[in-house]
Amino acid sequence: MLRLTLTTLTRVSSLPRIATSSLSTSSRLQNERRQVKFVTTNGVHIGNANIGDSLLDVVVNNDLPLDGFGACEGTLACCTCHVVLSPEHFARVDKVNPAGEDELDLLDLAPALSDESRLGCQIKLDKSDPIVLEVTVPEVTRDARTLD
Ligand code: FES
Repeated sequence: MLRLTLTTLTRVSSLPRIATSSLSTSSRLQNERRQVKFVTTNGVHIGNANIGDSLLDVVVNNDLPLDGFGACEGTLACCTCHVVLSPEHFARVDKVNPAGEDELDLLDLAPALSDESRLGCQIKLDKSDPIVLEVTVPEVTRDARTLD
C-alpha cells in the first residue's frame, strides 16, 4: 500500500515538470517564429519565418508571388530583392549586419532607392525583431546582371 502511494506521488510530482518543460519548449519555439508582411503596389503578401531566415528565404519558403524577387538566389548579383525597411528595422539591421561594399554597390543600381533600402537576401531575421515585420517592395526592380 505504501509502495503504491509513493509510486503515485512520484508520478504526480513528475507531471508538472514535464508540462513545464513542454511549455518552455513551445514558448521557445514561438519566440523563434516571425511573420513578415511584404507590402507591394498589388497588395500585401505574408510569410512565416524563423529567426535566422533571410527575407529572400521568407519569400521562397512561403512561395510568395513576388515576380522576379531574388533572381540571383542570394548570390549578390541582381538587386531584384531590393526592399525598403522602416527606419526602426533599418537601424536594428544596420547595427547587427550593416551593408557591405558589394551590397552597397548593387543598391546603387536599384530603382526607387531610399535611405532605408537593403537587399532582402542579406537581411536575416533577428531575435530583436518584433513578431510581425513589414517591409516595402518597390514597384520597379532591376536585374543588375542585365546592365552591360
Ligand atoms: S537575390 Fe540577387 S542580390 Fe539579392
